[in-house]
Amino acid sequence: MRDGIKEAASENLLTPRFYTTDFDEMEQLFSKEINPNLDEDELVAILQEFREDFNQKHFVRNDSFKAAADGITGDARRIFIEFLERSCTAEFSGFLLYKELGRRLKKTAPVAAEIFTLMSRDEARHAGFLNKAMSDFNLALDLGFLTKNRQYTFFKPKFIIYATYLSEKIGYWRYISIYRHLQANPDDQLYPIFQYFENWCQDENRHGDFFTACLKARPEFINDFEAKLWARFFCLSVYVTMYLNDHSRTEFYESIGLNTTQFNMHVIHQTNKTTASIFPQVIDTYNPKFKEHLDELVVVNQKLAEAESPVEKAPLIASFAFHLLSIALMKPIDSGSIDFVEDVNSPAFMY
Ligand SMILES: [Fe+2]
Ligand SMILES: [Fe+2]
Repeated sequence: MRDGIKEAASENLLTPRFYTTDFDEMEQLFSKEINPNLDEDELVAILQEFREDFNQKHFVRNDSFKAAADGITGDARRIFIEFLERSCTAEFSGFLLYKELGRRLKKTAPVAAEIFTLMSRDEARHAGFLNKAMSDFNLALDLGFLTKNRQYTFFKPKFIIYATYLSEKIGYWRYISIYRHLQANPDDQLYPIFQYFENWCQDENRHGDFFTACLKARPEFINDFEAKLWARFFCLSVYVTMYLNDHSRTEFYESIGLNTTQFNMHVIHQTNKTTASIFPQVIDTYNPKFKEHLDELVVVNQKLAEAESPVEKAPLIASFAFHLLSIALMKPIDSGSIDFVEDVNSPAFMY
């Protein structure tokens, strides 16, 4: 490896994933012949919005970045770099998937293809901005190396849509919540990248809205018993993954003045409310048992990381499964009114 090129962090279940899918089936999803519910006017309207390119001039750096990075030292520096690397990897993973979809759908579904291409433009910008930030810490991620050497997780198109919908919306709520917190507490603003989050998160919100349109076009994705199970399953896995990830690096959130648990619960509640506007069922995140099990999972996850032998690990894995299953079996909330209007101006911390 060249000097200053950071070796990608080793992978585990909780590292940001790279996705691939069945592109032929994806073509069918956007074919008007096969799929008469496809609202082409809506897709064209969404495309127009992406073409406007509201954030074209947003991601411009200034001199304050390098100086701020130099001021972050010691342990804080290590966790800051890790935050940048994980965020960059996640953004870049979106870029790769959307770019490939844009390429593969070009002939059969040109409108959807252009939307994917423009979304990949946004994600490339986000990833590039984060990678530039890493250079303030004298590091860079070798994105070409990442592309070739990461393992790709295969999801059928339906599951790609649930998963990307949720990751866009949870991304939106994470960025906007950090942004609003730092607006209210400017002394905690360690590094200028957070000032860009307000417009940045609007990109993620728009990406998520495109997947809402995709889901509405396929009623069978959101209206039967199976769809309800999958909807809850994806909520569960996305919320748990974030909670465990963030709770294994609480120092980062504390370094910018956030309480990790409060921040996470806020993001989960808000994402869940947004998601309830389109998913047919969601988890009852306000059920106190939900948070109790999440906190138990954090403890078990921590012990698992320290366990060495299979004999030590087995009971922990069983306990992990027990808590996951307990959440899955909680009484769900029926949802899915697509007319639901989300209140983006709700107070930043209601939890
Ligand atoms: Fe992004
Ligand atoms: Fe996005």
